[in-house]
Amino acid sequence: MTTASRPTTPEPSDGRPADREPILQVRDLVKHFPLTQGIVFKRQVGAVQAVDGVSFDLFPGETLGIVGESGCGKSTVAKLLMNLEEPTSGEILYRGEDITKLSGRALKAVRRNIQMVFQDPYTSLNPRMTVGDIIGEPYEIHPEVAPKGDRRKRVQELLDVVGLNPEYINRYPHQFSGGQRQRIGIARGLALRPEVIVADEPVSALDVSVQAQVVNLMERLQDEFNLSYMFIAHDLSIVRHISDRVGVMYLGKIVEVGADAEIYEHPTHPYTQALLSAVPVPDPEARQYRERIILSGDVPSPANPPSGCRFRTRCWKARERCVVEEPLLAVPEAFRGTGGPAAHDSACHFAEEKPVVPRER
Ligand SMILES: Nc1ncnc2c1ncn2[C@@H]1O[C@H](COP(=O)(O)OP(=O)(O)O)[C@@H](O)[C@H]1O
Ligand code: SF4
Ligand SMILES: [Mg+2]
Repeated sequence: MTTASRPTTPEPSDGRPADREPILQVRDLVKHFPLTQGIVFKRQVGAVQAVDGVSFDLFPGETLGIVGESGCGKSTVAKLLMNLEEPTSGEILYRGEDITKLSGRALKAVRRNIQMVFQDPYTSLNPRMTVGDIIGEPYEIHPEVAPKGDRRKRVQELLDVVGLNPEYINRYPHQFSGGQRQRIGIARGLALRPEVIVADEPVSALDVSVQAQVVNLMERLQDEFNLSYMFIAHDLSIVRHISDRVGVMYLGKIVEVGADAEIYEHPTHPYTQALLSAVPVPDPEARQYRERIILSGDVPSPANPPSGCRFRTRCWKARERCVVEEPLLAVPEAFRGTGGPAAHDSACHFAEEKPVVPRER
């Protein structure tokens, strides 16, 4: 396993508000799933390095967008934050306390403050439960938040808050559209008045026409309840709309992170540049100056990631150094102290070079 030789990631440095304490601090988070062979005598033959040294901060009231292709480890990060998976190593500090080391009552108290909204509103709501029971379910686990006699009123209020008719409280999930179901999922996420919402691709399963409505709702709720969001997506255009900062993941690592405008206007990592080149530009004038970067090859298996830089097998800028030396996530040396838009964290040895991209044929 590579854990011993893996360089530790420096503290995330840029695009973050200097005057505030983070609500969540994730440090060098690792999740390796064992790969086994055999049915009777299970032997471990390797490990899927789903998350491999991820560090970031989340500040009160902000949205951190996390973007990357399917399989890069986004949901695993979300599950680790929610304590649904146990990390192989690393720390998750909530208001300075490492939640990976908590248990019992202390853990329960923290979990109340971090809630999740799931990707698929069709499978994440129990079809046999009424909407009222679904939204009120968290009160069964945390009865201290709402006395029994109050719950129905609270659930109706939550329905109203997410833009649904409170009279729908006795209906079942199948009586709602996809967008309405995701509103129900959001209402459930809000029931305990959390500080942090981890939203794992909350609009990916919805029609494009409905996506913006749900994103707008989430933005309104963020202001109303001073929520911090980790908003996961594979679509950079959706994340741009809602994020204050954006982190880009590739094969279990964050390869670039910074303020929204820095990432979108001055990406310094070739993978981010490629992802951005795939975002449709509505203006035909602007489009003709945008070069589409086509990445060659498939994403390598996280059970056997490339040596050095994990992106090197698909990177058009790759050279010898990339094979032998893993780039750290840090502000590129040339931009350090400049405060310019390129001065944000990037895990590329040649991040300061101007992007020289292959033209689309
Ligand atoms: N419980 C598990 N056991 C084994 N491998 C897993 C498990 N969960 C996720 N993985 C693997 O970890 C990698 C990252 O998965 P995931 O976090 O779901 O990615 P994403 O959400 O970005 O699509 C994938 O290769 C996936 O197959
Ligand atoms: S370190 Fe090398 S392979 Fe990795 S992104 Fe930079 S140029 Fe490409
Ligand atoms: Mg996922």
